[in-house]
Amino acid sequence: MRNVVKTDNTKTDKVITKKAAPDYEEIYQGRFDKHYDELKWLYMELYDNSSMFEELCDRLKLFYDQRGDALKRQDDAREAQPDWYKQNDMLGMMFYIDNFAGNMKGVEQHLDYIEKCNVNYIHLMPFLDTTEGKSDGGYAVSDFRKVQEKLGTMEDLEKLTAACHKKGINVCMDFVMNHTSEDHQWAKRARAGEKEYMDRYFFYDSFDIPSIYEQTVPQVFPTTAPGNFTWLPDAGRFVMTTFYPYQWDLNYRNPRVFNEMMYNFLYLANRGIDIIRIDAVPYIWKELRTSCRNLPQVHTIVRLMRMIGEIVCPGILLLGEVVMEPEKVVPYFGTVEKPECHMLYNVTTMATTWHTVATRDVRLLKKQLDIVSGLPKEYVFLNYLRCHDDIGWGLDYGTLWQYGMGERPHKEYLNNYFQGYAGNSNSRGELYNSDPVTGDARFCATTASMCGIEKAETEEDPEALQRAIRFDVMLHAYMFMQSGIPVLYSGDEIGQTNDYSYKDDPNKAADSRYIHRGKMDWKAAAAADDPSTVAGGVFQSLDQLEKIRKSEKAFVSYAATWTIETWDQSVLGIGRYYQGEKIIGLFNFSEHDKTAWINETDGLYEDMLTGKKREARGVDIPAYSFYYLKKV
Ligand code: GLC
Repeated sequence: MRNVVKTDNTKTDKVITKKAAPDYEEIYQGRFDKHYDELKWLYMELYDNSSMFEELCDRLKLFYDQRGDALKRQDDAREAQPDWYKQNDMLGMMFYIDNFAGNMKGVEQHLDYIEKCNVNYIHLMPFLDTTEGKSDGGYAVSDFRKVQEKLGTMEDLEKLTAACHKKGINVCMDFVMNHTSEDHQWAKRARAGEKEYMDRYFFYDSFDIPSIYEQTVPQVFPTTAPGNFTWLPDAGRFVMTTFYPYQWDLNYRNPRVFNEMMYNFLYLANRGIDIIRIDAVPYIWKELRTSCRNLPQVHTIVRLMRMIGEIVCPGILLLGEVVMEPEKVVPYFGTVEKPECHMLYNVTTMATTWHTVATRDVRLLKKQLDIVSGLPKEYVFLNYLRCHDDIGWGLDYGTLWQYGMGERPHKEYLNNYFQGYAGNSNSRGELYNSDPVTGDARFCATTASMCGIEKAETEEDPEALQRAIRFDVMLHAYMFMQSGIPVLYSGDEIGQTNDYSYKDDPNKAADSRYIHRGKMDWKAAAAADDPSTVAGGVFQSLDQLEKIRKSEKAFVSYAATWTIETWDQSVLGIGRYYQGEKIIGLFNFSEHDKTAWINETDGLYEDMLTGKKREARGVDIPAYSFYYLKKV
């Protein structure tokens, strides 16, 4: 109850009004009652086990009771303003804690830098306990309730999240729920033959059943970790390992697994996490003779998680990691009445962006952006140019076929292009999991290296360097123009290039994703205010764009958006409109000066970067440049 009571103040003898503490019991009960029927229905549908359901309900209340008051207040405020994360002020940055600042305390000390970057959402890459050398960048968790010693403790995490909240910064973490590390307590006991724990994974005495799975289940890491099963000689059994052999798939058919993982999720949420990134979510339900991806039960589980979150900690957001084609991604939003994830990665747009870079042809990107614009405005996408993972070429090959581009040769072209071998490319980077059977390969590099900054620096070509910086900034400007939450990979704000030192580390050498997960270059960052340096050039330009984005309502995630025909194949036009405010973005993806043959007849526009007034007609755009034009 948020009513106001009157209390006697004996000292002053005056009657003052004071806000009563909220009635948490009542608040909880309200949330629980709201979801109870559906929660029970879905749980029983999956597990048909009432005692496990009752256990779950009891534990939800315990986690709620343990949730700190400050977090509960934040939950209430967010519940009262459910659109809080759909505004134009959100900007994310992701980083590995050790690469960014050594440890959690170090991150806390660098919060001023994060603020300087206009960032109010940090994604702390996996930091839970893991075994060095068998960690997959932390995505093989051996204890969900322990922080890696080198990074700090759970207490440090709580301090960090509290310090972030004071500054209005949201904290995101990965919840790696598809698998545990083989060094997790459960895995160790399963390996030793304890049935109770074996039942939490997929164990097989022979390859009979695994071989049936192998007929329909694709491979995630065909070169670095082929196959979906691993033979354990000491246990004399096979175990399912969709990712690396040391990442054992959890069996969500077992309600014990579901319940325990939900307890882990709530335990972590109670440490002050705002955004839970559900790692590899499409994979969590396995069924023989299927692809074991995106099965209906996955959606039941995500819906259950959403309700559990809304009951215990409604201030948190679920970010689903669904790196797949659009028709597989969108269902993870659920429906308006029965939502699943709050946010999803705009992965196809990201991949299509780089295709556009390599072809200077915006047609496919325009089509992709039109698809996204046509989706309900409730959907919030996380937009990015690149993340900690490789870039997979998940493009609309049906459409590309009509443009005369076949899938296999085009993928080959893209990979050659970004390695710097084809198509007048300035990019530098490396292939990832190049599969000789399917001819598929993905690509790894930092944004700056893909834009030509690395090449220009090595070749000491100042003109090329300026062009590369301009290109890098243009791509960010275009990314900021999309609806949703833009997320930078730490280092991209200062144009950091590839880091090849991973090759010297035997634990990393086989995984080229480390090329774009280098240490933060604080020396370069120190020059962020000096536009004559690469770091400063990129930083200052992004700073200007980020401030524009934060101050203009037309950037809210629910604004109307559309693409504009520019009659030049290399120039992309995007419009945004919200409550009388209209903005047009024009982006030249080519190394040649171009003209956007647009003809907006509704009056004068202002160049938002220079403040100059002009008409939005036949706009000349220098190579790799852009315009943000606002209707005056
Ligand atoms: C996700 C992560 C990736 C990791 C995989 C396995 O796809 O983004 O880095 O390798 O899950 O957990």
